Amino acid sequence: MPVVICVGGQWGDEGKGKIVDLLAEAADMVVRSQGGNNAGHTVVTGGREFRFNLIPAGILHPTTSCVIGNGVVLDPRGLLEELEGLEAAGADLANLVISERAHMIMPYHPVLDRLEEEARGDDRLGTTYRGVGPAYSDKVRRIGFRVGDLTKPRFLEKKLAFVLPLKNAVLDRLYGAPPFTVEAILAEYTGYAARLARYIRDPFPLVQGALARGERIVLEGAQGTMLDLDLGTYPYVTSSYPSAGGALAGAGIGPRHVTRTLGVIKAYTTRVGYGPFPTELAGAAADHLRETGREYGTTTGRPRRVGWFDAAVARYGVQVNGVDAIALTKLDVLDDLDPLPVCVGYRSKGVGHAHPMANISHLKHCEPVYEALPGWRTPIAGVRRYEELPAAARGYIERLEELVGAPVTHVSVGPDREQTIVRGKAL
Ligand code: GDP
Ligand code: IMO
Ligand code: MG
Repeated sequence: MPVVICVGGQWGDEGKGKIVDLLAEAADMVVRSQGGNNAGHTVVTGGREFRFNLIPAGILHPTTSCVIGNGVVLDPRGLLEELEGLEAAGADLANLVISERAHMIMPYHPVLDRLEEEARGDDRLGTTYRGVGPAYSDKVRRIGFRVGDLTKPRFLEKKLAFVLPLKNAVLDRLYGAPPFTVEAILAEYTGYAARLARYIRDPFPLVQGALARGERIVLEGAQGTMLDLDLGTYPYVTSSYPSAGGALAGAGIGPRHVTRTLGVIKAYTTRVGYGPFPTELAGAAADHLRETGREYGTTTGRPRRVGWFDAAVARYGVQVNGVDAIALTKLDVLDDLDPLPVCVGYRSKGVGHAHPMANISHLKHCEPVYEALPGWRTPIAGVRRYEELPAAARGYIERLEELVGAPVTHVSVGPDREQTIVRGKAL
């Protein structure tokens, strides 16, 4: 490896969890570097399904260290539930480390997230209501609480005495919502401190030691490039940096160490929440993709919006992240569809565009330009060798490679760890 960035190339839910779990088998460490429990990553192995919101998908491999990095916003309550669920399922959590520098989602963050969404009315973003946006806003405002604060109750109390009146004023005066008290938050969070203490440390020596020894590290992406605060369809984005640059900042690793950036890209497109989506489908084709691909949110259960593959979006993802190789997922979901339209660019106000425009109004109203590729009309879930794929499936992959500008090294043909075709040199 040694450092592989695994980044979502679309609007999230590309199958990053599955691919990270696969790479984790040969990795010494997996670092989740940004986002919060807005993420939902699924791993299927041995007939069992595991869902992760905050814990790195590498945790299923007992010898892999798993780090929740400094760029994450962590809801301690959600994390404890996740830990308990994994313990009950027999997972070994001894190798989990939570960065002291990661910020925490405080009890008022999800409340403010929901109130702000409701206040936006028709312009709402469709957030996961996990409080991720408000927590990152407070981090930037320098009134955030870090995981390390849990071990300093007096500091926590002093800081709450300053921050809580700011929050309560907004809750009360803007929304008429009930206030929070310092005592209740202190009691709740010191309770979490006791239960999480054994995982909380500064992962700096651990990560730097691994780098110095040339060990293999996977950076687990969350969300996707089009949800990136800077590079995505702002304001219909998340509040963090899911792109490759964000992955490095959130893990405390410099670019010199990166040996490969793997873009995880779905063979069609989905999006949860609102915002422009040029290749979005409605009607029978949409229902078919949604049902066949089981496109319902891992975190919220919401039906995902679905559409044809958008090569302009994927190419943009490849370029802004510096993607070297692609893991193409959910190809099996396209088994019964023929032809398969692929968007190669857009037309907006009579002008052609090869990548998603920054102006989201233009992106919302643009006309996708399609190229129709032949379908294969054969089940491919059981295929394990690239040469055994139907010619039309290989044709689809190879045309996508040309359009997107990077080679497909992994083809996923089902949710299970085993249902993966590794092509060429493995990572
Ligand atoms: P993530 O957020 O990028 O980790 O993706 P999610 O786990 O939210 O969503 C991907 C969904 O597709 C999960 O239910 C996976 O089990 C499933 N999945 C992953 N790869 C494949 C695949 O190749 N084929 C099919 N049919 N399902 C897949
Ligand atoms: P994974 O890691 C898909 C979307 C939300 C909403 C927008 C803002 O599973 O790919 P937020 O709660 O982050 O403020 O919501 O971002 N969103 C995701 N969509 N997959 C995710 O994560 C997402 N995380 C956030 O649906 O549109
Ligand atoms: Mg997901």
